[in-house]
Amino acid sequence: MTDLRLAMLGLGSVAQAFLRLLAQKSDDLAPHRISLKLVGVATRSRGIAANPAGLDLAQLLEIGAAGQPVDNLNNGRRFADSLEFVQNIQADVLLECITLNPASGQPAIDYISAALQRGLHVITANKSAPAFALARLSDLARRQKKAFLYEATVLDGTPVFSFVRDTLPATKILGFRGILNSTTNFVLTAMEEGLPPEDALRQAQALGIAEANPDYDLDGWDSAAKTAILVNALMSGSTTPDQIARTGIRHLTTRTVIEAARQGRRFKLLSEAVWRDNHPVARVLPRMVPLTNPLAHVSGTSAAITLITDTLGEVTLHLHEGEVPQTAYGLLADLITVIKSHYAK
Ligand SMILES: NC(=O)c1ccc[n+]([C@@H]2O[C@H](COP(=O)([O-])OP(=O)(O)OC[C@H]3O[C@@H](n4cnc5c(N)ncnc54)[C@H](OP(=O)(O)O)[C@@H]3O)[C@@H](O)[C@H]2O)c1
Repeated sequence: MTDLRLAMLGLGSVAQAFLRLLAQKSDDLAPHRISLKLVGVATRSRGIAANPAGLDLAQLLEIGAAGQPVDNLNNGRRFADSLEFVQNIQADVLLECITLNPASGQPAIDYISAALQRGLHVITANKSAPAFALARLSDLARRQKKAFLYEATVLDGTPVFSFVRDTLPATKILGFRGILNSTTNFVLTAMEEGLPPEDALRQAQALGIAEANPDYDLDGWDSAAKTAILVNALMSGSTTPDQIARTGIRHLTTRTVIEAARQGRRFKLLSEAVWRDNHPVARVLPRMVPLTNPLAHVSGTSAAITLITDTLGEVTLHLHEGEVPQTAYGLLADLITVIKSHYAK
């Protein structure tokens, strides 16, 4: 048995779902002969808990769900803040699940950079760092012979990056179009059913799928961040969310959405990218998609991406009704990739 020590940044919906999934999937992890231990968790406002012997997951989940401070579980060194935590915690893998910052990618970039420099593998569900610093952090990870993985950032953990990396050899991604933001898709679907946008957003928030700041969903920032990651990872781009042409869905009314549906079209917030003059060009905008297009049938919390390839033509990955557990699975899948690539006997 090899011990693998996990440290976690954030204890919100995604981090908690990941910890629950870890407990549920212990039998599937057993053949890897790895003993997983969560040795620390840092939050923004609820303190930091570390325990080299491993935190009690059931207790942590109870505290997480109740929104209580985690400090009481501390049984080790005390850390002043999240940066000190990543710079010093004795761990092998950092799971980064903090709030999205689509304006600069910070502080996630600094945390991930510090962890990689210390020789930790990093797995993130947060788009911030891969959207702003993918090339730099991937390069650092390569030099350190560690992994920097981010499958959970797009399509809630459905394999998109590993799908291209591991199963599409000798393939060029010519472009993509996708519905990448579940919250706006949920809101647009509910508006088509007659709900005012504010009520639809409240329902999305209750499901835990909306960003902590829902403006990031409605104004297209979350989609722009995902689009930037896809362009950088799959089309060798070097863009950032602020460089992606972006229009959100705020200007759409329930009446406009219903009227479009009467004409056989559905409003969808699309992320699109193509090559132009040897450069990938991307944008995020609401489009009226005809019902003959498969993306018109991606409704509610579902999400989908059509990859345009030079080998298989168009390949569509569609996650039906993704929610937080699916994002948690993206983290688990990345963790298993790390185990297989770095700890397999
Ligand atoms: N929810 C989804 O369906 C989904 C899907 C894909 C990706 N994601 C991404 O996953 C990440 C987490 O999402 P979530 O829904 O779990 O968010 P959440 O429920 O709002 O939780 C965010 C967590 O991050 C912590 N945090 C924020 N800044 C921090 C810092 N500087 N240091 C340490 N902890 C910090 C918060 O601490 P406090 O508890 O003190 O506030 C909180 O525990 C986000 O980046 C989101 O974009 C979410």
